[in-house]
Amino acid sequence: MIAKSRLESEADLYEQVETFFRSTFSTDNRIITEAIKRMLSAGGKRLRPRITLLSSAACGGNPVEHLHLAAYMELIHVATLVHDDVVDNAQTRRGVNATAVDYGNRVSVLAGDYLFAWIFKNVTSTYAPPIPNILSATLADICDGEVLQLRATGDLDLGVDAYVEVARKKTASLFAASAQCGAIVGGGTPADVLALQAYGDAFGVAFQMKDDLLDVTADERSLGKPVGNDLTERKVTIPLIEAMARGDRNFQSDVRRFYGGNDNAALPAIVDGIARQGGLAGTRERIAAFVRQAKQALEPIAAGTAKTSLANLADALLVE
Ligand code: IPE
Ligand code: IPE
Ligand code: MG
Ligand code: MG
Repeated sequence: MIAKSRLESEADLYEQVETFFRSTFSTDNRIITEAIKRMLSAGGKRLRPRITLLSSAACGGNPVEHLHLAAYMELIHVATLVHDDVVDNAQTRRGVNATAVDYGNRVSVLAGDYLFAWIFKNVTSTYAPPIPNILSATLADICDGEVLQLRATGDLDLGVDAYVEVARKKTASLFAASAQCGAIVGGGTPADVLALQAYGDAFGVAFQMKDDLLDVTADERSLGKPVGNDLTERKVTIPLIEAMARGDRNFQSDVRRFYGGNDNAALPAIVDGIARQGGLAGTRERIAAFVRQAKQALEPIAAGTAKTSLANLADALLVE
């Protein structure tokens, strides 16, 4: 009976998260509020709050009690996006101008900082440990990952393990925390909490690999953000690593020349080369391995609709 009403109200739950953004989120600073609200209303997949609510439900909790926690996960994500677009020189986000395009780098940095402070002020006054501790550690990991990635710019010898370490920190850490915190507030056992954290971690690595794949396969209109930007920024992403490992000498030397300079004329040829040399196929195999790992991590969780939805979210990463 309870399970049925929870299932029926899933769409309502997500609408209530949106209502929180529209009505509850505000700051004393008009420019900051406007810049953040603009990015929130531009859309996005809302995956992190979804994972928090599903994880709480998967542990027997009532997701309606955890809407604010779910919303904070999305807000942490939005603040990292505002900063990330400054770092990556990206012009568009969620189909609209990146924050820096409309407000400049300086306001973007400060608005992201303000948002982090706003979130942590609320989280620390609302949630008992270990929730604030997990979120603070997660934010440290995200920054660590972004800096590690910057330091690896143009390093064509980075390798898969170092790539995965960056992805784990900059992206998977927030998915892992979203799942872990959802499990904790949902009343999960220590085994449930660990299982969902491991799910979020593996899901997050697969998610970043898929994001890297889309950078070389998607179009800007459907993606809502620039394509090919990883290559113009000389980031070393998984499709490139896989293509370099499998590719012929000509392709390897073309890539080394491209990564050694700042002329982007060869970008379309490099993108074509990544596909021809097996970079996309290699990436899909890597994604599939992390998706398997994410679903295996769910094994200790009791069967039910929430667990099925989490498994389906992971499977969705296999679809192009
Ligand atoms: C983008 O995340 C940043 C990465 C971690 C790759 P999303 O793809 O979830 O962005 P939105 O929320 O849908 O805009
Ligand atoms: C960013 O990774 C992850 C964050 C911590 C925001 P990307 O730089 O690949 O994300 P996009 O492609 O800009 O969304
Ligand atoms: Mg980026
Ligand atoms: Mg990306």
